[in-house]
Amino acid sequence: MTNEKKLEATANAMSAKGKGILAADESTATCMKRFGEFGIECTENSRRLYREMLFTTPGIGDYISAVILFDETIRQSDTDGRRFVDVLNAAGIIPGIKVDTGAKPLAGAPEETITEGLDGLRERLNEYREMGARFTKWRAVIRIGPGIPSRYCIETNAHALGRYAALAQEADLVPIVEPEVIWNGEHDIHRCREATENALHSVFEQLASQRCFLEGTILKPNMITSGHECPAQADTDEIAELTLKTLRSCVPAAVPGIAFLSGGQSSEEACQRLSAMASNDLLPWQLTFSFGRALQRSALQTWGGNPANVPAARSTFLHRARMTSMARMGKYSPNMERESVPV
Ligand code: 13P
Repeated sequence: MTNEKKLEATANAMSAKGKGILAADESTATCMKRFGEFGIECTENSRRLYREMLFTTPGIGDYISAVILFDETIRQSDTDGRRFVDVLNAAGIIPGIKVDTGAKPLAGAPEETITEGLDGLRERLNEYREMGARFTKWRAVIRIGPGIPSRYCIETNAHALGRYAALAQEADLVPIVEPEVIWNGEHDIHRCREATENALHSVFEQLASQRCFLEGTILKPNMITSGHECPAQADTDEIAELTLKTLRSCVPAAVPGIAFLSGGQSSEEACQRLSAMASNDLLPWQLTFSFGRALQRSALQTWGGNPANVPAARSTFLHRARMTSMARMGKYSPNMERESVPV
């Protein structure tokens, strides 16, 4: 297969019908925060045991097409010594890797950030591919506030996303391109729409000028919502309508899959909103999920760092994955939450 055919096949498999992506690429600092919320000790081994619990949940490959790993995790193995990459492949799940090194202050724009990680990226991509990764992720962070996001922030981040995506494809790895407009703030849904639209236009302009192959690219956007602290919250119908309008006007039909981040929404909210959008059958791309918190939060809480809770945590995780898969097919309803699935 040519390089482009391989990229296209991987991107299509990542956005396969009925399935979506598990974002398990939390950095050590983010893990510390998430584990801390439930009083779980955060060590290299506890992170390994937690990820092992998720990746070895029987049946998970029915709902999860791909998992995004963190640098530490792609080098780890399960308790029997099987590398996580092999564990995932055996479950029919595509392993991938987050390759940015985080959002740092943007020079001259103290409230905004630029995502770093381009130096040495070509070499790191080759190493990850040798370890078995087949796709990558890079997340840009765009905040809404008084006078921001600036054009400067949007354009520098879009340029970095373009450079990253071109390098990933050169290394035979599908890039997940994630310009995340953060939901914190008092702004209304229309400001979120405006910022997201500007960010997406800029990203696709850069992908085109940096010769990226769109058929081998996955977009990971935020949904268009009111700011978390906005007093008048938009409802599911408005969120679905404005998100689809924005995506239709900004995302070329050549992109095979759009996989939403959950961004701090509750699991049920994220599923309701995804389902409302995915029930529309006139979309040019597959609409799916690449959730972190909305897939993991309840399983992490159930696990609590205690080996005795592994079966219950697996059951919780499988349920969440099944609900999210239903949402991805446009068939989710909150009533389904009460149906339990034995592991
Ligand atoms: P959330 O779904 O928790 O936002 O995480 C997805 C992700 O990978 C953000 O980069």
